[in-house]
Amino acid sequence: MKVMVVGGGGREHAIIKKLKENKNITEIFALPGNGGMANDATLVDIGAKDIEAQVKFATDNRIDYAVVAPDDPLVLGAVDALTTAGIPCFGPNKAAAIIEGSKVFSKNLMKKYGIPTAEYEVFSNAEDAIKYLETAPIPTVIKADGLALGKGVIIAETRDDAVNAVRSMMEDKVFGDSGNNIVIEEFLTGPEVSVLSFTDGKTVIPMVSSMDHKRALDGDKGLNTGGMGTVAPNPYYTDDIAKTCMETIFIPTVEAMNKEGRSFKGCLYFGLMLTPKGPKVIEYNCRFGDPETQVVLPLLESDLLTVMQATTNGTLADTEVKFKNGAAACVVMASKGYPQKYDSGFELKIDDTVADKVYVAGAKLDGDILKTAGGRVLGVTDTAENLETALKKAYENVKLVSFQNAFYRNDIGAKALKAIKGE
Ligand code: AMP
Ligand code: GLY
Repeated sequence: MKVMVVGGGGREHAIIKKLKENKNITEIFALPGNGGMANDATLVDIGAKDIEAQVKFATDNRIDYAVVAPDDPLVLGAVDALTTAGIPCFGPNKAAAIIEGSKVFSKNLMKKYGIPTAEYEVFSNAEDAIKYLETAPIPTVIKADGLALGKGVIIAETRDDAVNAVRSMMEDKVFGDSGNNIVIEEFLTGPEVSVLSFTDGKTVIPMVSSMDHKRALDGDKGLNTGGMGTVAPNPYYTDDIAKTCMETIFIPTVEAMNKEGRSFKGCLYFGLMLTPKGPKVIEYNCRFGDPETQVVLPLLESDLLTVMQATTNGTLADTEVKFKNGAAACVVMASKGYPQKYDSGFELKIDDTVADKVYVAGAKLDGDILKTAGGRVLGVTDTAENLETALKKAYENVKLVSFQNAFYRNDIGAKALKAIKGE
């Protein structure tokens, strides 16, 4: 079987490594992938948003199955185009990917179907939004409607900050058309949990829960990033909470999408906050999370391709999706300066003994030499029977990876360990 994976980050590397465990797969193509994946996939110089070229490549090379991993091509309709060309695909079609592509859509969906989320208002012009902010509770949360490279959410601690956020999104258009409409919502508190799930539009099977660490520096200080590390499972996500989420959030969301004529197939990601009033949805993503995937997939015991195909074929109810007991940890190594300005082009050394546990996000080959080429360069992972050991092993593996200007957080999982110990 020939499989292609659209995307080029650490998440895609984790998907490719997991797919490789299936012995029926003879070749995996990464479009475009990155130099750090060259041992695991054939790199094809086609961008993640170049849907026309993806379809041509898949057809010319008789690809048997395609996995579309990133948000942009999903929201742009890559799955529709590939499916029309006769290529079976993992991921939602364009009509369903709107659950991530438009926050106005997802908030209205939750309101219509009684799915717990923060209270909110939608605005399509800055004047009305600013007037509303005169009396809105502070802190408040301002969200651009469309995709914004994960930067479209601003938590405003003061009224002035809130007004500035509205102006920058709606008047200065810092996120382009994504800021034509905005959501202003209630500020919620509580531990955050990421729950990725497989769904074929009928059955929804949650994967092991996880916890992201979004801030750049230890102690949750510094700027927001794409994610500096993850652990799974998330200790705040108890069996009772999982049951509540299944009944009040997961099944209702899948059913709501069906009722809207937007049946969702693929990976539906629930970003949850466990508030004093119960679990609420912070955001939906229409795809695997990054770097959540780097801890979730190593714990998947079942064959990933089989499960993915079941979401496409509508046979998930008859498919075993099993996770290992134990825990996983991922420590992201980034380039000094990330998420702002940083230098690239430094040689990346990964000891052979840990190569299987490293998911590369930002690197490229210069001849035979792998060099850094991004803010988040890679994620170093490991698994063990418990989180404490998984973290210890992941941090030991970090010592076997090096590049100039590397930095990483030293406290990934610290909060989770405290929660496990009841501190
Ligand atoms: P997002 O880009 O949607 O993942 O949001 C980024 C982060 O903003 C989330 O992970 C939360 O930490 C925070 N956030 C989003 N919405 C809210 C909210 N209503 N209340 C408190 N924090 C929020
Ligand atoms: N880690 C958050 C995301 O993938 O959106």
